[in-house]
Amino acid sequence: MAPSSSSGSARGLTLEQKAALVVGSGYWATVEAPGIPVVTMNDGPHGLRTQPNNGDNLGLGSSLPATCFPPATGLASSWDRDLVERVGRAIAEEAIEQGVDIVLGPGVNIKRSPLCGRNFEYFSEDPFVSGQLGGAWVRGVQSLGVGASLKHFAVNNQETARMTVSAEVDERTLREIYLPAFESIVTREEPWTVMCSYNRINGVPAAENHWLLTDLLRGEWDFDGLVVSDWGAVDQRVPALAAGLDLEMPGPQRDSSEAIVHAVLSGELDESVLDRAVERVRGLAERAHPSPEALDGDGVEVLPSSASGSVHHSASAHHALAREAAADSMVLLRNEGGLLPLDTNQPIAVIGEFARTPRFQGAGSSQVNPTRVDAALPALEALAPIEFAPGYSLDRRVDAEPLIREAVAVASRSSVALVFVGLPPAEESEGFDRTSIDLPPVHVRLIREVAAVNPRTVVILSNGGVVSLEPWHDDVPVILESWLLGQAGGAAVADVLFGRVAPSGRLAESIPFRLQDTPSYLNFPGENDVVRYGEGVFVGYRYFESADVAVRYPFGFGLSYTTFESSDLRMTSTRDSVTATVTVTNTGERAGKHVVQLYVSAAPADVRRPVRELRGFQKVALDPGESTEVRFELDARAFAHWDTRSHDWLVPSGDYRIEIGDSAHDIALWTVVTRRGPAPVQLTMDSSVAELLAHPVTGPIFARAVRGADDESAMGGSLFDMVATVPIRRLLRFPGVGDQMRHLPLLLRVANNPVVRTVAGWFDRGR
Ligand code: BGC
Repeated sequence: MAPSSSSGSARGLTLEQKAALVVGSGYWATVEAPGIPVVTMNDGPHGLRTQPNNGDNLGLGSSLPATCFPPATGLASSWDRDLVERVGRAIAEEAIEQGVDIVLGPGVNIKRSPLCGRNFEYFSEDPFVSGQLGGAWVRGVQSLGVGASLKHFAVNNQETARMTVSAEVDERTLREIYLPAFESIVTREEPWTVMCSYNRINGVPAAENHWLLTDLLRGEWDFDGLVVSDWGAVDQRVPALAAGLDLEMPGPQRDSSEAIVHAVLSGELDESVLDRAVERVRGLAERAHPSPEALDGDGVEVLPSSASGSVHHSASAHHALAREAAADSMVLLRNEGGLLPLDTNQPIAVIGEFARTPRFQGAGSSQVNPTRVDAALPALEALAPIEFAPGYSLDRRVDAEPLIREAVAVASRSSVALVFVGLPPAEESEGFDRTSIDLPPVHVRLIREVAAVNPRTVVILSNGGVVSLEPWHDDVPVILESWLLGQAGGAAVADVLFGRVAPSGRLAESIPFRLQDTPSYLNFPGENDVVRYGEGVFVGYRYFESADVAVRYPFGFGLSYTTFESSDLRMTSTRDSVTATVTVTNTGERAGKHVVQLYVSAAPADVRRPVRELRGFQKVALDPGESTEVRFELDARAFAHWDTRSHDWLVPSGDYRIEIGDSAHDIALWTVVTRRGPAPVQLTMDSSVAELLAHPVTGPIFARAVRGADDESAMGGSLFDMVATVPIRRLLRFPGVGDQMRHLPLLLRVANNPVVRTVAGWFDRGR
């Protein structure tokens, strides 16, 4: 094809240059064009995976050493925005050192099922936690002028058939569960890029989804960055471009560029669509390579030149930060008799290969080549007299029997047995899902046999996705869920076990008794390339609390070495917002950190709502006896649900409970606040009897007019209940009823009068 000259606004580039520019160059860079420098991007999210040579998106090839921080599954359990922001900043410092312009993270997909193979890369089952902590990560990274790539947009909650599956999810569930983390980060943190996911959403591939990439992302959320594809997510470049996908990765893809040129020349694609994407690539390049003048006053901090000099300097400081983050990410689930913290003088059995060969990250594109790795065993040996037994081998061909026998013997002659178990590396990775939440049978046997000879057994778990604690939970007095902790996890475990750091993590996902108890159980991962999100908004604790299904440990739960008490919950409210204040006191003997959790329990409404939803949290550090006051600002969204009639957020009038909880299941304090919704709905002849009755104007009049009729039901049931869903139009067709209700059309006109509706809205207290 002969080169053609550009007519569009994409200054001075030929059509071919423009078509080439919206497809990457190799695995990790954009194409260079006149006046547009190359932009480099690398994974992400819990450390860098910069591949100087051949690239791949599955973590197979080698990458430069970088600090491996705790993956999101651990970091999220810290519930600490400041900590996550500092981790983001450290990653940006390493990005600058390695010449990386954009870090491919954070992943804020919701943990819909414990089986998702990539749950270790995601934050939570709750959109608020995901949005807040993912947002803190973006803030940290971008504060140094490095870009983030918010992924995987959207509804990518499984690895099974991830490139083809259609997530069938209803409008309200999308808005309330699967989109808010993205929305909050896009609107508050302005990530440089958003990465579209591989999957389809209600049949339409994310890469070609105009509603998702343009109407919602740009139209509603005002996103002005660049949309990049997940690696290999594009099937049809022209429809993807038209939908709003600016950059296809990786590249080059000659067929994509040629298809764009052809579509423009044939008139199928308006050249301005291509120009817009080109301008976004240019905008990204300008952000990545700002002129000195542009840097002045844009809020980005410029590192002193020494920061880009010594890799060694940052390596030790970043390792220390990784250790701090790891210590704050562990969740102490059980500590019967206050067995922890340990005393350094007792002989301790350390059991489990993971103590010597730690599992600290998951497999796939996020896999970091760590600058060093701290195992727990040497860290513990430095603190107390230790006897070690591996207990099992990571090589499945090795006979487990002699290893278990040896471990039991070691445990029986020690004062405490620390058992390191969890999920073997092969069980969780990008690219496939798990099929069970059980620990390997050998690990379960090891726990039970050690516990049988040593009642002071401490189980330390290493796993990315949730594992079941059955049937061994009651056999042991202590369980420390340490997730995947990054490269400094071993030292951090020793810090927590010996009390140098008091545990302060809280569960960012519920631990069920059984996989069968989880809300997506019957629908996950779907079949024939379709997965139905049949549980709707009832994901994680929203389901367990609403359906009253018991879990082993609820969302938000976690112990410390001290105790906390919340008191004096106060509220002030205006029409638009509510301010809640609560006092938190460290009532124990040691310093520690507490996560104050605020839930809203909705007023009764026309739609079924979760019993409670997290709307605020704050982590506070307190010395023994110290108190502090924590404030939460709640805007209208904290009370709203997505209304599928108006396609908008709606706050139904009524009384809402504001709750302070130690978890989603343990509410320590609550109080009630009344919210007035918008003017009542417009009534029509298609409105139902129930709507007529619920309306603040027509309800009382209608009820009075037909008083007595309620007794007419021969069956003893309420007549109103029997006809609640009947449209008014149909009701009036029954002989006699039309006559009796001849004034109804007039009444509807009065009720719909704008002045009457506004005044009625003020007084509406809901049902
Ligand atoms: C993953 C992304 C990753 C990309 C580049 C894909 O397989 O889904 O999360 O950023 O590869 O490695």
